Order: sequence, then C-alpha cells, then structure tokens
Amino acid sequence: MGTTLAVAGKGGVGKTSITALLLKALMEAGKKPLLAIDADSNSNLHEVLGIRQPRSVGCVREDTRKLGDNIPGGMTRDRFMEYQIQASLEETKTLDFLSMGRPEGPGCYCMANNILREVISKLTSNYSFVVIDNEAGLEHLSRRTEEEVDHLFIISDPAPRSLRTIGRILELIDELGGRIHNKHLILSRVQGAVEDMPEGTRKEINRLPYAPEGLIPYDETLVELDLQGKPLVEISSEAPSYVAVKEILQKIGIFN
Ligand SMILES: Nc1ncnc2c1ncn2[C@@H]1O[C@H](COP(=O)(O)OP(=O)(O)OP(=O)(O)O)[C@@H](O)[C@H]1O
Ligand SMILES: [Mg+2]
Repeated sequence: MGTTLAVAGKGGVGKTSITALLLKALMEAGKKPLLAIDADSNSNLHEVLGIRQPRSVGCVREDTRKLGDNIPGGMTRDRFMEYQIQASLEETKTLDFLSMGRPEGPGCYCMANNILREVISKLTSNYSFVVIDNEAGLEHLSRRTEEEVDHLFIISDPAPRSLRTIGRILELIDELGGRIHNKHLILSRVQGAVEDMPEGTRKEINRLPYAPEGLIPYDETLVELDLQGKPLVEISSEAPSYVAVKEILQKIGIFN
C-alpha cells in the first residue's frame, strides 16, 4: 500500500503549484511508481506537469450511466468502469495521471460512486506514492472521510484573515477525525521570515491550533515559468519554493 499525499486549501493559495513541486521532488528522489490525481473539477494540474489532459473519471461515469444495461463485452458494470478508468490513465515515463473531472452530477447513482471509490482505492494501491491536488475550499474534505490520506497539506497564505479562517477549519478537520492521518499546515507565498511578519500576522499564527510546519517563499522563478506557460516541474532545483517543498518532505519523514 502506497503513501497518499493530498493538498488542500482556499482558492488560489498555490495548491496546484505545490502539488507539482511535490511530484517533482518525488520524481527526482527516484520514488516510483507515482500517481498524480487531479481532484479539481476545474482541472489544470496536467498543465503544470506538462502532460495531456486525459478523459476524466467523471466522463467514464457519465458514459457508463448512459449505457444503461447495455454494457459491452458481457462485462459487469463494475468491471467495465474499472477497465475504462484504467484506460483513461495518462501514463508518462515518470508518473501516471488521473483526472477526476466533475463531481457527481444530477442523476448520478450512489452505487456508481461506491464503485468508483473501490476502483480508485484499488488503483492507488498499485503505486508507492499518490499525490492529490484538491479543488478549492476545505468543506468537501468532510464529505470524503472514507478515503485514506497519510499526509494532508493544508495551504494558507499568511494574511491575518486567511489565518483566522484556516484556524477554524483545522479545528473542524480535527473534530472529523476520519482517515486523515497527518495534517501539515503550510504557509505559502511568504515574504521573509515569520519574525519579520507584521504583528497582526504573528499574533494569528500564535493563535492557530498548531504551528505551521513549513513556509514556502514567494518565488519569482515560479511566477516567471507560469507567465511563460511552462510546466512548473521544469523549475530549477535551486528555486526557493522547490527547496522549501523538499525540506517539508524531509521534515515529515518522506525523505531522509
Ligand atoms: N510560491 C509562490 N510564489 C509566487 N507565486 C506563486 C507561488 N505559488 C503559487 N503562486 C502563484 O499563485 C497563483 C495560484 O497558484 P495555484 O494555481 O497553484 O493555486 P491553487 O490554490 O491551485 O488555485 P485554485 O484554487 O484556483 O486551484 C498562480 O499564478 C501561481 O503562479
Ligand atoms: Mg489549483
């Protein structure tokens, strides 16, 4: 059974960028096989990884639903969906990629979703690491308590208002318990050290239920790559944001 890493947080805090940096670090450390999952219906993880967008799991589910009882090849519905999801994996030399697409739409059966969950947990067990980029917001995490997540990275920017929100959310996630085994609060796009932050920010950091385990600096190299439309996995190994992500992986024991 592999290790599952998931990245979550409010909109625009840098989740997708951090997912790409985590994957780059795992690839460079020779960790394989690797699976990247885009769990944001507004999918763009493939772009920062520089790969083609595959057919999504949502599409597989919809197409299977439309078939009704006419499942080809004498397969059971479960087997057919499993086969279709396998076929929709985008495979590259360094990692496999799965796009979840739209979450359950109208007319979607619970049964289909249970099957999906089973198929995906079966699939993820084939990898040594699975990295999931989530959609914005943290409310949906409370609906996905059945999924095992070894390390959840909760990303926030260091603005006092964001820190207050994240504080409440951390408490909520703690109350949920569930299958999130380790939670790591990460501050992103940070300019300077915590000691140099405005007093309001430092006060909010001290009030958080747990201290941030990592700071990812504001990184011009990352912004530049993004502006040029280049995949973030091509970022220099010396780029400050990448170095910070590697340090976080070391700190939590993924790398030694
Ligand atoms: N460390 C960083 N330094 C500077 N800019 C950054 C950093 N991380 C992310 N950004 C920029 O912030 C913007 C949002 O990043 P990203 O798309 O990764 O966020 P997100 O949380 O995935 O957004 P969404 O909620 O829309 O999915 C991008 O323009 C990206 O270039
Ligand atoms: Mg994103």
